[in-house]
Amino acid sequence: MSVKVQGVVARSKGAPVTLETIVVPDPGPGEARVKVAACGVCHTDLHYREGAINDEFPFLLGHEAAGIVESVGPDVTEVAPGDYVILNWRAVCGECRACRRGRPWYCFKTHNATQKMTLEDGTELTPALGIGAFAQMTLVAAGQCTKVDDAAPPEVAGLLGCGVMAGIGAAINTGAVTRGDSVAVIGCGGVGDAAIAGARLAGARKIIAVDIDDRKLELAKGFGATDTVNSRQTDPVKAIQDLTEGNGADVVIEAIGRPETYEQAFYARDLAGTVVLVGVPSPDMRIDMPLLDFFGRGGALKSSWYGDCLPDRDFPMLVDLYLQGRLPLQDFVSEKIGIGDVEAAFEKMHKGDVLRSVVMVGS
Ligand code: APR
Ligand code: ZN
Ligand code: ZN
Repeated sequence: MSVKVQGVVARSKGAPVTLETIVVPDPGPGEARVKVAACGVCHTDLHYREGAINDEFPFLLGHEAAGIVESVGPDVTEVAPGDYVILNWRAVCGECRACRRGRPWYCFKTHNATQKMTLEDGTELTPALGIGAFAQMTLVAAGQCTKVDDAAPPEVAGLLGCGVMAGIGAAINTGAVTRGDSVAVIGCGGVGDAAIAGARLAGARKIIAVDIDDRKLELAKGFGATDTVNSRQTDPVKAIQDLTEGNGADVVIEAIGRPETYEQAFYARDLAGTVVLVGVPSPDMRIDMPLLDFFGRGGALKSSWYGDCLPDRDFPMLVDLYLQGRLPLQDFVSEKIGIGDVEAAFEKMHKGDVLRSVVMVGS
């Protein structure tokens, strides 16, 4: 039997989101229906609402979530009703050219539910990143459910479903930060702070946080920053060089997605160092830099999609590290809000007042 629940829907470009009754079908083959407990508010939700991702309105927003599997389709074996899971948007297919080459974190054909959730009048919804978790119940592909230790509260575990995983993965997967490295992170929102936490986990010796907001720099210290630079007051490239014996950092992570901060990242790394772009630029952004510097400075310029994560490998591991007190995931939760407060949370996100607002869907 399909179920009717409340969900946060973006009906048209730029319009405030509304709470709507949505219809969630019974899971079919390969699908799971999940009772959402908590779901973080991410920039991508706002980008959907603004029509910056595509035009497939109406969207069912929310994609950074943890919950409990309520029911599964006939052939599903990976998860079972009652399992405590984090939802992911990289359910690897195992068959595409990336998967066949042994690089499943680039999977080009990730799985989502086949059936559509709808409004009561039958209008099909497009779930954000194939998830749609600002809703009491959502329908996903079974592979989008990653089982983790239920000792981690949902507002904490759910964060690994998107932004925090992107940041940690930018450091430990894409940037391959290792013991003794110097690392600089430009932009210390939720994603940048997660990169800082990831760099600390990986054993970085110096972690330089760069931001234009002193409040953010203060928080960055709590995640492991050893030094901070306010780039409104100080040239960040010079400051990073000064803090690394004049050389620049081994790995610089750009967690904003802007040309000027990318350029800072590029010049703030050591010769043959690595730049990781995890911030998402907008389509109008351009960059104009001497090509010779790309050659002459060598090293690696990488992008990090979702932290190059493999959910089944990374989520349970990071939850365990959290439970052991080695990864302060709880500090990303700036506030817990209700399902009707998403629009207000967008406003706070825009003003830089929060690392993460988390919707407690189940309460
Ligand atoms: N120089 C330095 N820091 C800056 C600058 C700048 N020019 N502009 C903004 N910042 C800082 C902000 O003060 C803030 O602390 O960057 C941080 C951005 O954080 P959030 O807005 O909270 O964004 P976050 O959720 O961390 O995501 C960052 O990653 O996944 C992508 O879409 C996401 O592009 C976004 C980026
Ligand atoms: Zn694949
Ligand atoms: Zn997201």
